[in-house]
Amino acid sequence: MNVAKPFTQRDVSMETSFRVNGRVMSVQAAPTKRLSAVLRDDLGLTGTKVGCDAGDCGACTVLLDGEQVCACLLPLRQAEGREVITVEGLDKDGLSALQQAFLRHGAAQCGICTPGMLMAASALLAHVPRPNPEQAEAALGGVLCRCTGYRKILDAVCDAWRQPDAQGDSPAGAAIGEAVLRLDGPPKVSGRDRFGADRWPENALAVRVLRSPHHHAGFRFGDLKGWLAAQPGVEVVLTAEDIPGRNAFGVIPPFADQPALAPSPARFRGEAVALVAGDPAVVEDLDLDSIPITWEPLVAVLTTAEAIDPEAPQLHEARSGNLLTAGLVECGDPEAALANSQHRVEGLIETGYVEHAYIEPEAGISWLDGDILVIEACTQAPGMDRSDTAILLGLPEERVRIVPTATGGGFGSKLDISLQPLLGLVTLKTGRPARLVYSRRESMMSTTKRHPASLRASLGADDQGRVTALHLEGDFNTGAYASWGPTVANRVPVHASGPYRTPHYHAIGRAIHSNGPISGAFRGFGVPQAAILQETLYDEMAERCGLDRLEFRRLNAFRDGDVTATGQRIEGVGILECLDALRLPWSKALAVAAARNASDDLVKRGVGIASCWYGCGNTSLSNPSTMKVGIAPDGAVVLHQGAVDIGQGSNTVIAQICADALGLPISSFRLLSGDTAITPDAGKTSASRQTYVSGKAAQLAGATLRAAILRHANVSQSACLSQDGNTLLLVDDGAERRLDLSSLPRDRDGYVFAAVETYDPPTTTLDEKGQGTPYAVYGYGAQMVELDVDCRLGTVHLVRFTAAHDLGRVINPLLAEGQIEGGIAQGIGLALMEEYLPGRTENLHDYLIPSIGDVPEIRSILIEKPDPEGPFGAKGLGEHALIPTAPAILNAIRHATGAKIAKLPALPHRVLEAIEAAGSGQ
Ligand code: FES
Repeated sequence: MNVAKPFTQRDVSMETSFRVNGRVMSVQAAPTKRLSAVLRDDLGLTGTKVGCDAGDCGACTVLLDGEQVCACLLPLRQAEGREVITVEGLDKDGLSALQQAFLRHGAAQCGICTPGMLMAASALLAHVPRPNPEQAEAALGGVLCRCTGYRKILDAVCDAWRQPDAQGDSPAGAAIGEAVLRLDGPPKVSGRDRFGADRWPENALAVRVLRSPHHHAGFRFGDLKGWLAAQPGVEVVLTAEDIPGRNAFGVIPPFADQPALAPSPARFRGEAVALVAGDPAVVEDLDLDSIPITWEPLVAVLTTAEAIDPEAPQLHEARSGNLLTAGLVECGDPEAALANSQHRVEGLIETGYVEHAYIEPEAGISWLDGDILVIEACTQAPGMDRSDTAILLGLPEERVRIVPTATGGGFGSKLDISLQPLLGLVTLKTGRPARLVYSRRESMMSTTKRHPASLRASLGADDQGRVTALHLEGDFNTGAYASWGPTVANRVPVHASGPYRTPHYHAIGRAIHSNGPISGAFRGFGVPQAAILQETLYDEMAERCGLDRLEFRRLNAFRDGDVTATGQRIEGVGILECLDALRLPWSKALAVAAARNASDDLVKRGVGIASCWYGCGNTSLSNPSTMKVGIAPDGAVVLHQGAVDIGQGSNTVIAQICADALGLPISSFRLLSGDTAITPDAGKTSASRQTYVSGKAAQLAGATLRAAILRHANVSQSACLSQDGNTLLLVDDGAERRLDLSSLPRDRDGYVFAAVETYDPPTTTLDEKGQGTPYAVYGYGAQMVELDVDCRLGTVHLVRFTAAHDLGRVINPLLAEGQIEGGIAQGIGLALMEEYLPGRTENLHDYLIPSIGDVPEIRSILIEKPDPEGPFGAKGLGEHALIPTAPAILNAIRHATGAKIAKLPALPHRVLEAIEAAGSGQ
């Protein structure tokens, strides 16, 4: 074995030679330089990704002499004379069998973990060509994925030996319902997809950010000019005073309050207060502590309990106390109904900060194209990035162009601009390109989290087991700035009933400021926290009523034509069908649990169930999407698809919808994705809105384009379209017409036919009692889990999930299953392991997310109860899939042991305490 000599000086440069993907390479660099950095910076092999630089995430996994290693932990010198294989070495004559299996099984979502997964799997397959799931699981245990839930990755690895059937093209008009492979899949599995950190513009300045080490502190800068003059290679140091526009951004205008660079005081640990930019060789090694700044720590308020204390300091002058805002939904007379109910149960729940932990830390580049500021970065919301960046930098919007890169995971946090204005500021001030890549720690300490919540509720039911009333109040710690706090405060009261008839109802969500991390959007906007309390109370109530827990939910489930607590009449309601789909597995699982528990006193089997409903799109706010589609003279159908695909599949699903509306096969389509200069604004990738809202816009655009073609050809609505190269064939009532596209006039974009359509969901504002139509479309789901609890250790072993989700119309079953599995994996983290503690868990070894061994078998059942409004009846799914998971787990723990968990995550010591409390009758 080669062992590198110890080197102590980073700046010693020497030549190291090794084979990379079969070619001998010589690199002149410091022998201690990380192999991952050498591969990316020196050799341009950016397929090897960097998620943590600490060996925790495995995204940088490569093969070293055939064995998987984290390239970020390997000093260059240790590669001397050895063989390194990266993802770029896998596809020699087209994609390898393993890469094709990843495509076939939908094993790549965002794709940032995919190269690492592929390399770890390659090491296994070299020795075990037909692995079983246990072998695959053991081999992939060092690579984290935040999107997929791992199940499809396991399927792909175990199936890589198989010769795939050739995938036929879906015929015209039949793309919907097909498991069309991701249109953007090949670059993800080949390592060629370009993420935020994958480009180095020539002559670019490296940017680094000085952040507050305190939760709350005043600060003063010293002699910055003098400091700068003494730093050769540092071009500029910038502070809040250098922001040329309004130094406050945020998602909802009245609440836009977050500075890009904070003026004194800094309001949370990790807040940006200054930046430096300069020669990368200097700036990357710069000691930021040398920047002259004096900190004066102030009293910090970290929890909602502290924040609502009347003695607490007021954190924002403009606000009443520390309350940011509150949302209310109320109907009937809940107090009286509860008082008169035959049965009544009460409870409370506390949840903590949950970190997004996407594997790609924020990264991007900027440059000037004439007088246009171009920012290329990972994002979920290019249109919003452009508006916010323009405001901060004092530019008209037309002078800002946002070009999204592939986004390596984004579950809400990449909705908020973070590095975009900082990059833009450097480029505007210096005229130079700039590059900024957050470290893992920087990403975790400075970006938004799931809101910690404290919720309490009372639930009433009559003697038949029908719910009479729910009274629920929740405080959500929104942190130092508003971010998506107002959205959470409004969304929670609408959804807190669950998908159940609740004639008397009162629900309040309050967003409360603190000096904790900023809480923002995270898959569900507060609804998952509220569902934990509501669904665990439902279990208690079922027991109180003497009803089976699933049947109790069926009894109370919404039906078509029911009226929600906001007074909205709903149709296309699929919760009953979801619960019905679980009846058989439920009864079987209960029987198995009963048999096992009769003979085992230490490890107890539990079965849990929970439901969800979720409104797709913004709450009572306009949130339009615009889609453009054109036919080029060469016959290509070009879809200007601005709904950013962060792994969930919008590139494919929206194209499927448009293809069927137009009546041409999806293989004719070419995508232009999410660049504010070439795609219309399709809104944010959030709130489970893209399939429904952008899909509807794509359906309209496809139909309009079709109508234009039919009109031009003078054929009827029922004509069938097909293509033969650049000729469009139209068959109408047996007669054929041919249109030579290359001979037809073109519009200024070069299209022969084109259509642009906008769709905005028909919602209404809510009145002071929360009455109105907050969403036009809802999706529904129910999940059950089987698990074992070790009553001595308090550990929970998950056995299986069965998840039934109503999608209205299944556009792409493969991608839908991927969303369900990924949502369940994140729900497992929320329930059992994830707890972000500022200053203590700012990395991926102290902050644990589910790894491949933590996600059990998942059986997905796709239900189709068409929605009258959705495109071809479709509803959203992305956030729905996470909501029932945690309450189903808590209900199963209680079923197994009697333990009522009141604080998440249900870590073993909390489970043990709850078991003891249950045993002592508390
Ligand atoms: Fe694995 Fe996104 S697909 S992290």
